[in-house]
Amino acid sequence: MRYQRPIRLFVFPAVALVATAFVAFVRAQPAIETIAVQVNRPGAAVSPTLFGLFFEDINFAADGGLYPELVKNRSFEFTEPLAGWSRPMTAEGQLIALAEGGLNENNPHYLRMRSEGASGFGITNGGFRGIGVEAGKEYVFSAWVRTPGGAGPKSLRGALLGGGGGRGGGKLGEATLTGFSGQWKRYEAVLKAATTTPNARLQVSVSEPGDLDIDMVSLFPKDTWKGRPNGLRRDLVQLLADMKPGFLRFPGGCIVEGRRLALRYQWKKTVGDVSERRSIINRWSDENARVAPDYFQSFGLGFYEYFQLSEDIGASPLPILNCGMACQFNSSEMAAMDQLDEYVRDALDLIEFANGGTDTAWGGLRARLGHPAPFNLKMIGIGNEQWGKAYVDRYKVFSAAIKAKYPAIQLITSAGPSPSGAQFDFLWGEMRKLKADLVDEHYYQPPQWFLDNSHRYDNYDRNGPKVFAGEYAAHTPEKRNTWGAALAEAAFMTGLERNSDVVQMASYAPMLAHVDAWQWAPDLIWFDNLKSFGTPSYYVQKLFAANLGNRILPVTVPNGLYASALLDEKSGEVILKVVNAGNAERGVRISLGDVKGAARAWVLSSELASENSVEKPLNVAPVERSSGLDLSLAARSLTVLRVPVR
Ligand code: AHR
Repeated sequence: MRYQRPIRLFVFPAVALVATAFVAFVRAQPAIETIAVQVNRPGAAVSPTLFGLFFEDINFAADGGLYPELVKNRSFEFTEPLAGWSRPMTAEGQLIALAEGGLNENNPHYLRMRSEGASGFGITNGGFRGIGVEAGKEYVFSAWVRTPGGAGPKSLRGALLGGGGGRGGGKLGEATLTGFSGQWKRYEAVLKAATTTPNARLQVSVSEPGDLDIDMVSLFPKDTWKGRPNGLRRDLVQLLADMKPGFLRFPGGCIVEGRRLALRYQWKKTVGDVSERRSIINRWSDENARVAPDYFQSFGLGFYEYFQLSEDIGASPLPILNCGMACQFNSSEMAAMDQLDEYVRDALDLIEFANGGTDTAWGGLRARLGHPAPFNLKMIGIGNEQWGKAYVDRYKVFSAAIKAKYPAIQLITSAGPSPSGAQFDFLWGEMRKLKADLVDEHYYQPPQWFLDNSHRYDNYDRNGPKVFAGEYAAHTPEKRNTWGAALAEAAFMTGLERNSDVVQMASYAPMLAHVDAWQWAPDLIWFDNLKSFGTPSYYVQKLFAANLGNRILPVTVPNGLYASALLDEKSGEVILKVVNAGNAERGVRISLGDVKGAARAWVLSSELASENSVEKPLNVAPVERSSGLDLSLAARSLTVLRVPVR
């Protein structure tokens, strides 16, 4: 029996102590079976944008999540203008929601606070399932205010209250706005939180008699990603940046389409001053709920912010646009063929917004918003999850117009909602004929499907359209984010890598979910009002995205294992990913010729039912280990190995 000494541990000194502890677990194993990598036969190039992110405002992903506005319905534009606000306990005044004389045509509603006493009159906002604040941190309390007729209360107080109502419901901080006139104007003051709590409330009050009009009442953390005003939630962006995603797909998903065309996503209405962005009900809200629906899109996170986010995290932007069809799961409404101009115009103008010179109309707007340099947009999706001939007809119109003006822009077309079947075959057939650039395949399937389909792309036509696996996730019967689901995705993803000449991009979906307000599970990342954590699937995605080579290497694996091998010509390393989905440990020898230094390994393994949570965010997380080339693959594990060969 032959044992190989572990290769020298390669770690930074600061983590050497911790890593040394791991060495104790690293047992050299008898080399039983061989995984052979042909380092001297580098094949096709790996798509640099292979693993990316899919973002949709579902599960409070934008408002209540990535977009950290803490006040829900700040503009009083929900169907029920006071949704999210609790009515005052005191009778010393009236609340009147008005729609005439508001801030602008996109934001007509505002609230008239008619105070009748001097003892304080106000309303309270409950945030998005509570308001999360941290002790010592600063929050900008702001509002647009006017005193109709020029007289009325001289100040507006914003007080942060503990979440406990009576007991524990004390004041956590306050700020006061003053200096109002008869004209609408925005005022702001900084409030510092005294305590950390996930469920504070914001009380907005006056203490003098008279009328005061308020709108766009906001409490916004100063501590955003890169400290930007109207910036994004720092911990969530950090999780995304850590993944080193190749692209960011936005803004969905079904919300691109809308339940009706009037409720589709229209990017032009999401840029510019936030007070001028028209709120609409979210596709994922229950419009027919007997209680007022409470899930709207404020578009505070709009297209400018999406492009900025893409740039911040080093991801290529991938906007998906409505193609003149409402969500086909909800409606058969579509724009007539001779009514598509507005939709096509939106696509052309978006390219100018992203890439145009500052002397163009839309490029000029981008510059005025703060980004004179282009955003380097290279691709656009036409429609989300459409199907049928109606889609193909509409796609042709978009394609003709966009390719005529911007031939270098790659277009993504739909393959419908299923990974196989008549619609799927029809759409692929049509897209092949049309020589489409990329076809967007979606699969939400059981873990076994992912294991069975790890060779799905081995025989795809190398001369046809490329594949964008634009939405996928392994769904257990309970729809939980288990290690078992993530493991099956990892096995499948080795197939994406081995076929990266065909599969150019892939993204898990959906990306974000609030633990107290979600419509869809599983999801990549979960969060509450203060904390966030990556699921086992997140760590799989991260390991794949952060360990991408640039050339595919031929690899042969023993039965029952899944593997892919890439060469990273820059670092001179072979990157091997191996999944052992079985219940027994497997001893393997990696054969890849000359090794030029220490190998590093990251291992994810657990029980199939294991999950992460707010309390145990790293229950399933990669462990870095030193490794030889004879190694033991734990049962139910993913191993990523980086071996210097040049
Ligand atoms: O990811 C959730 C939904 O699944 C998307 O909105 C839609 O495209 C798909 O049906």
